Amino acid sequence: MTGNEVRKSFLDYFVQQGHSVVRSAPLVPEKDPTLLFTNAGMVQFKNVFLGVEKPPYARAASAQKCLRISGKHNDLEAVGRDTYHHTFFEMLGNWSFGDYYKAEAIMWAWELLTREWKLPKDKLWATVYKDDDEAEKLWRKISGLPAERVRRFGEQDNFWEMGETGPCGPCSEIHLDRGPGACDRQSEPDHHCEVNSGCARFIELWNLVFIQYNRRDDKTLEDLPAKHVDTGMGLERIAAVLQGVLSNYDVDFMRGLIRAAEGLAGKKYGADSQADISFRVIADHSRAVSFLIADGVAPSNEGRGYVLRRLLRRAARHGRILGLTEPFLYKIAVTVADLMGDAYPELRQEGGRIREGIRAEEERFSETLEKGLGLLEEAVADLRKQKQKTLSGEIAFRLYDTYGFPVDLTEDILRGEGISVDQAGFERLMEEQRSRGREAREVLSSGVRIQLDRAISFIGYDRLDGESAVLALYAGGEGKPEVGEGAQVELITEQTPFYGESGGQVGDRGVIETTRGDRMEVLDTQHPTPQVTVHRGKVVKGRIQVGDRVRLVVDPKHRRRTMLNHSATHILHSVLREELGGHVRQAGSLVASDHLRFDFNHTSAVPEEKLAAIEEKVNERIRLDAEVRTEESSYDDAVRKGALAFFGDKYGDRVRVVKIGDFSTELCGGTHVHRSGEIGIFKLQAEASVAAGVRRVEAVTGEGALDLIRAYEQRLKEIGGLLRAGVDDTVERVRKLLQQQKELEREIESLRGQAGRNQIPELLAKKQQVNGANILISKVEKADAGQLREIADQLKEKIGSGVVFLVSAGESNVTMVASVTADLTNRYHAGNIVKQIAPIVGGGGGGRPDFAQAGGKEPSKVDEAVDKAWQIVKSTNAR
Ligand code: ALA
Repeated sequence: MTGNEVRKSFLDYFVQQGHSVVRSAPLVPEKDPTLLFTNAGMVQFKNVFLGVEKPPYARAASAQKCLRISGKHNDLEAVGRDTYHHTFFEMLGNWSFGDYYKAEAIMWAWELLTREWKLPKDKLWATVYKDDDEAEKLWRKISGLPAERVRRFGEQDNFWEMGETGPCGPCSEIHLDRGPGACDRQSEPDHHCEVNSGCARFIELWNLVFIQYNRRDDKTLEDLPAKHVDTGMGLERIAAVLQGVLSNYDVDFMRGLIRAAEGLAGKKYGADSQADISFRVIADHSRAVSFLIADGVAPSNEGRGYVLRRLLRRAARHGRILGLTEPFLYKIAVTVADLMGDAYPELRQEGGRIREGIRAEEERFSETLEKGLGLLEEAVADLRKQKQKTLSGEIAFRLYDTYGFPVDLTEDILRGEGISVDQAGFERLMEEQRSRGREAREVLSSGVRIQLDRAISFIGYDRLDGESAVLALYAGGEGKPEVGEGAQVELITEQTPFYGESGGQVGDRGVIETTRGDRMEVLDTQHPTPQVTVHRGKVVKGRIQVGDRVRLVVDPKHRRRTMLNHSATHILHSVLREELGGHVRQAGSLVASDHLRFDFNHTSAVPEEKLAAIEEKVNERIRLDAEVRTEESSYDDAVRKGALAFFGDKYGDRVRVVKIGDFSTELCGGTHVHRSGEIGIFKLQAEASVAAGVRRVEAVTGEGALDLIRAYEQRLKEIGGLLRAGVDDTVERVRKLLQQQKELEREIESLRGQAGRNQIPELLAKKQQVNGANILISKVEKADAGQLREIADQLKEKIGSGVVFLVSAGESNVTMVASVTADLTNRYHAGNIVKQIAPIVGGGGGGRPDFAQAGGKEPSKVDEAVDKAWQIVKSTNAR
């Protein structure tokens, strides 16, 4: 069975048992910002287990793309070194949502393995959780396995949890004994092969989890409302078993990838154990990076993008071990799509983007990889000399900072040398760098570091004015006790109704006045740290001192417009997810007073009709006049209830949740309208790509939309005025005008031809006999190359035997043609004639013996060109 056939056979089997086949969820979890990547088939059902969502089926089965490279489940380091770890893999699974439980789960697993797939019963073992008598009994009864082959294990092996929190429960595993020859730890004296002893002889095939608890934030377990089944079996591993190979990397589709790498490197897999590690890393990573890019991740320096970058860079370095110094991984991505594109069509749909994304990163890294490796080699040589085994944090940091080596890449390279990295030292330098970054943010634009012992409170959610005392003043880069009229200042008060720029929403504008009547105009408000709000602007009247009581008044129009745009952004986000798919996630946004901009992960352009549908739906939701509510809650509660959180944001323990009607729930600190109807109208303006896998839409709302409509109307009216037509008739008038223009052009064309032909008799009169040939050399009034050619052809016909040379001057250019009748081409060469004359008019050209043309740039030299032509013709004859 090929891998594709194994996948199908699994799904078919569970369809027969009444399961619905569910599509693989994206690698980037849709509903769960607590998880970097989908790492098991159950991730898309997390809310179902928690009782928050109800699925339309009680039984489901899927083949899920998974990545285990972060958090609780992380296999990156082992990949390549052995023959059975992967970062990317497929998990086959079946689920019961409060429907069947342990008995059926065990029965079907046993039946599929032993009856359908015919695995030998005497080589299979089962494990159960230490106190799960029920599961043990079921195993004995259903499978007939003897007591010693149903083993009990503790939390470590037989209690499965998706992450630090979330659904979990005791589990039961099925292991296969592949015989003593499969052990890869024979050389270790203390090693003894058995289930869960960590060698390749006993391998876990299938994990059946009996989900019944939720692990809460405080680590305690709570009972779930219902009991569920969640199973998982790695496709690569079961395919290896069914294909009778020991290594996952020898199954058909992994070998296909290795073959692609063999072809590029001109080396064979299996010839050298070091090179084999690289082949396996490349095979594994080519899949991981293809799927990541297909699901909208782009290489970057943080979060998911950094995982992608680390994989790409590690693959690049292993390519180099195989002698691949040019970008190569993007070529292997084509093989990934060939092998897996039927089951995962996104690989083909996004093929171009995947290849380009990989190639660009490969090129970026190739500039520093070589230099970094050089530095590392020197460091290793030094360590050897000093008989040391630890690379300093400084060098690891330099490799990271200057040469783009993720620290795990450095470790990966050094592992072969038996050298480790001083992680603590590296972390210290990273932390220093991070805190330099933080300090930098605490510095105001004027270069002053604010040191405040208290947080500035924001009182502007419900009101636009307030009173407070001036805490600090800065001008010209220095703290001041007092500033006077005309000064550009940054002013900090104890509390403020001014919103400081954050979460994409721009800062407020307005005025600040003292009780004496002094006045500062606030042009912008910033939020350099979460605790500090700074008003920036100019003193326009009097003086302001630290300690002054002031009244702060936000510009209501600016704030209001910004608010409309912010609430509209949330509605847009909800509609985009509904219309384009749950993979859509915010990748950035700008909420200004005159427009809004929303960036999101999506891999292709949004078609025109879809955009229209999105705009329509946003407007429907505005017209629902839905209530906008805000509440505070714990981060985990909010996310559990489905609030959308922006992955790039850091949230504190307490978060603010903004809900609009029943269609939008987001974590957000921004300012919003009270009812959606206040937004009035939402008009999309543009949709475009901003980076690989990231689209951007821009829109206007409320008065901004009205302004836009007015501007369009004004332009239409102007066009109507020019056309002397009513607005409704403009399109028809323009269409007619264009039609007329085309007709006129055609007419001009034919008149020109006519004019050219009219010159023929006059030109013919200039014909002269030179040594028995008819020579016709002349200027022609304003003619282009096409016309000259046509005239020359006609003249040639009329003179019978001879040479025609015509030259015509335009405003700033010159055109010439030479034409020789066939009987004289042994004496005159049109191409050579033109070639000698063209330089006179500042040009060049040439051509065949019977016809040639050329151009030039100096109309004033046309007479000279004519003289030269005569000269050439005469001297040719004289010879
Ligand atoms: N969710 C279980 C696992 O990943 C089946 O092993």
